[in-house]
Amino acid sequence: MSELKNQMCNTHILVNGFDYIRPATIADALAALADHPEAKLLAGGTNLVVDMKLEAKTPPCVIDITQLPELHGFEISDAGVDIGALTSIRDIATSRTLWDRSSCLAESAAAFGSTQIMMMGTLGGNIANGSPASDTVPALVVLGAEATILGPTGERTALIVDLLKGPGEIALHDGELISRVRIPQAPAHTGSSFLKLSRVRADLAKVSVAVRLVRDGDKIVNARIALGSVGPTVVRAKKASSMLSDRPFSKDLILNAARMAGDEIKPIDDVRSTADYRKRAAVALVHDALLAAWERASGKTWQPPMDVSQDEWAEPILQQRMAMNVGTDDSATIELIINGEMMEIDVSPNELLLNVLRERLELTGTKYGCGIGECGACTVWLNGTPILGCLVLAISADGGEVRTIEGLAAPDGTLDPIQQAFIDENAFQCGYCTPGMLMMTKKLLEEISEPSEDDVRDYLKGNHCRCTGYASIVRAVRLASGEAKA
Ligand SMILES: Cc1cc2nc3c(=O)[nH]c(=O)nc-3n(C[C@H](O)[C@H](O)[C@H](O)COP(=O)(O)OP(=O)(O)OC[C@H]3O[C@@H](n4cnc5c(N)ncnc54)[C@H](O)[C@@H]3O)c2cc1C
Ligand code: FES
Ligand code: FES
Repeated sequence: MSELKNQMCNTHILVNGFDYIRPATIADALAALADHPEAKLLAGGTNLVVDMKLEAKTPPCVIDITQLPELHGFEISDAGVDIGALTSIRDIATSRTLWDRSSCLAESAAAFGSTQIMMMGTLGGNIANGSPASDTVPALVVLGAEATILGPTGERTALIVDLLKGPGEIALHDGELISRVRIPQAPAHTGSSFLKLSRVRADLAKVSVAVRLVRDGDKIVNARIALGSVGPTVVRAKKASSMLSDRPFSKDLILNAARMAGDEIKPIDDVRSTADYRKRAAVALVHDALLAAWERASGKTWQPPMDVSQDEWAEPILQQRMAMNVGTDDSATIELIINGEMMEIDVSPNELLLNVLRERLELTGTKYGCGIGECGACTVWLNGTPILGCLVLAISADGGEVRTIEGLAAPDGTLDPIQQAFIDENAFQCGYCTPGMLMMTKKLLEEISEPSEDDVRDYLKGNHCRCTGYASIVRAVRLASGEAKA
């Protein structure tokens, strides 16, 4: 075992080797899980690869499930919404259907700390990671969501709340995976809300709260309250929920229920907050979330805080690649189209896309900053989506199309208007964060042609500038969009 074990230090590489298996079918994935009981499943990798870098997890085998079509997709029916486990957090945050039907889930996804992480991270991964700070889990609990689980004995379903076991643990049996998540259709006059308090915008929750209530005129028919980051798992405030059921709405009732919820939780002091602060903040959040849910249950129209024009999610880009099984000490030849040019590269399972780009292909415009998904310096596009190269196994990008900062200017060298706007606004000092900022801005302007300052700050929340030149960066983005000129 490497000397780095458990030192919470970070390297730019994955120190430990592992076998890499990419099954083409669910049956093959389940067979691989049965053959390799110590294996870890790889979805978006935003938890797993970080844990592997920090050597908190050292699986001998990684099973890449990203290409399994059964785990993708989104179905809406009168019975509810059925969401593939590999659906990205960003797709949930921008789904009109979810904002309309299950607003607390869409809100919880929108509250994630980084746009790239939202684009890479999946719903299944957020649940299976078992963190009490997983943002979607309180929402799934109050919505009564259930997981479809596939395993050696077939298929079973379980309420999300029944899967919660302890920090980093969920109640999956050996050889099982989550394939889908179903949100049952709520009764008429249901409202829900999610609120999160964190140290900064790009951070995990100090406290999070999800609330769902059903109203009948001026009466609360029933209510459910769940809280994140205040216990070893996401917890329900059962007494506060009962206090609200079948009672006429009043501001005093809401306040008393919020206080009761605060009494029910037993948070701890940790790096993000103190137990005392968490308890007091929880009371305020439960109070505000209940009021918001009550308003929404009245059926009044309200505007989601982000662009949710999307009615149906795009088909996932499955790269149609061959199944793969590569041993720890072996390598495989992968194909990547990089800035329009097809390349074949031999990679080992533990090589990261960032390192392949920088060190093997000498595309050094993409930067290495934190190495654990927190700074955005390594942002490149994979199949049209900005991702963090430091958290992507190169082998799993096989068959994909990569665009780096070197591919932003026109082939004749003419700068992209975004690059020109950054120059015009002096939107850099040392320039280290600039490639990542530019790659994110390119996508932002593709999605929102005239972003407001809030849109820009929210979209770039996962890109950090150590020179703190944010004001000029925001100006440059708006200049590039034409908005600032108007
Ligand atoms: C910088 C940064 C910011 C973050 N911010 C937030 C935030 O604001 N809110 C938040 O909630 N989280 C946050 N996270 C955590 C993480 O992004 C989410 O938990 C994400 O949803 C994980 O999904 P994934 O697909 O990347 O999971 P992976 O890393 O691929 O997997 C996580 C775990 O779940 C298992 N797993 C994955 N899919 C399945 C499945 N279908 N069935 C069974 N097991 C499975 C894996 O084996 C692994 O153990 C952040 C992470 C980083 C690095
Ligand atoms: S180097 Fe990848 S996010 Fe910091
Ligand atoms: S310009 Fe130096 S890190 Fe942003």
